[in-house]
Amino acid sequence: MKFIVDQQVEDIEMPENLKLNTFLQEFHSSCDQPECSFGFYGFAFGQSPFPVPQLIQNALIKNADKGAYAAVPGIPELRSAISKYNKHYFELDVAPERIYVGPGTKELIFNLLEILHGTVILPTPAWLGYLPQIRFLQKNYHMLPTRANKKISPTDLQKLSLRLQDRQKILILNNPNNPTGLLYDRLELEEIADICREQNIVVISDEIYAQTTFNFSKFVSMGKIYPEGTFVTNGLSKSHAAGGYRLGYVVFPQHASDLKSQFKKILATEYTAVSTPIQHAAVEGFEISKDMDEYFEITRNIHRIMGEYVYNSLLEIEGVKVTKPEATFYLLADFNAFATDLQKVKINTSQKLSESLMVHPYHTAIVGGDSLVLERTDFSARIAYVDYDGAKVYQSYKKQIPKTHSERTEFVKNNAPKMVQGIKMIAKFFEDIRNK
Ligand SMILES: Cc1ncc(COP(=O)(O)O)c(C=O)c1O
Repeated sequence: MKFIVDQQVEDIEMPENLKLNTFLQEFHSSCDQPECSFGFYGFAFGQSPFPVPQLIQNALIKNADKGAYAAVPGIPELRSAISKYNKHYFELDVAPERIYVGPGTKELIFNLLEILHGTVILPTPAWLGYLPQIRFLQKNYHMLPTRANKKISPTDLQKLSLRLQDRQKILILNNPNNPTGLLYDRLELEEIADICREQNIVVISDEIYAQTTFNFSKFVSMGKIYPEGTFVTNGLSKSHAAGGYRLGYVVFPQHASDLKSQFKKILATEYTAVSTPIQHAAVEGFEISKDMDEYFEITRNIHRIMGEYVYNSLLEIEGVKVTKPEATFYLLADFNAFATDLQKVKINTSQKLSESLMVHPYHTAIVGGDSLVLERTDFSARIAYVDYDGAKVYQSYKKQIPKTHSERTEFVKNNAPKMVQGIKMIAKFFEDIRNK
């Protein structure tokens, strides 16, 4: 039997993360060098390496008997816990009625794009998840390339918006940012919010990395700055190292009752509700507790230590520009200073650059520029610094907190040797390229 697939599906490309997975698997099985058996230095996958907090795991076991469907927007206990969590950590005063729970923020962002009319404005570089969704929904969209500082320029946002004819526009703001690891401060958010008010732009503020902000008091939610026009999304995936639980939430803007009922229709039509035991387990993750507070503190400090090491080591490669991460577990490395040398050896695109770094003797996986919605010929790459045993490193940090710069360097060398070696491989690759 030959199945006929809808044209709309045929037309979208495979999301980049799936492409990457396939590429790594195929590469791996076709490599016959003995070194390939150990795998590769992994800077490509954006997953928290830490264990799911024990109290969430316990709650999941305890609630395994909850077989009934949950209410569409989420169980009341969870919406209430998320409301308190937002107040405690992000100074967002939102009633539980403004919070809807969904199977991951990726799905919730998709649902928001389904119901909101308007042209999408996508600042670049961007997380690789947004564009396939926008294309699949056949929405009009425009890229908004950032400048040298890799942040949205309010002037550029205004200029672009003035060119768009739509009554409403949708800005996707990702703060803290994947792939750059950068954080927007209050003033920057206020300037963006001013343009949004003037130009009737609604904001989907993807704040999935908020809790990883190294200096946590510096995080400001767009939901606070522009409460009437911002949809904040967040969830368990990064802060609670539970991407596989598939649980996210959206905070609706103030005074959006009509919209909420439209949204409810969409959720009920598409997935009814999030798994009930998972919702009960999530309550523990969002309730304010000493255990969770310690978990957030330790994990964000480890991300900071790893980030600092990777940032400093990459800067040692002459010509490389690197964003200095303030949150997440990523940074953006710009290798364009090597463009001429790369072209000489027929590496003309960022895709080719990622492939060349994967082959023997380098064995290093990164995410190249075109997967970050940059030009194919832009030799920038996202470096995720999570290739270590999270459970072990967590314990080792608890046993002895590294305080000085040299203690932190030692900590990384002892606890993340593969990452240290991988950075050396990147340096070696570019040294070899220059000497070819
Ligand atoms: C910026 C960003 N938003 C959203 C997600 C997806 O989150 P979720 O697991 O809640 O769907 C990711 C995961 O990599 C991400 O990096």
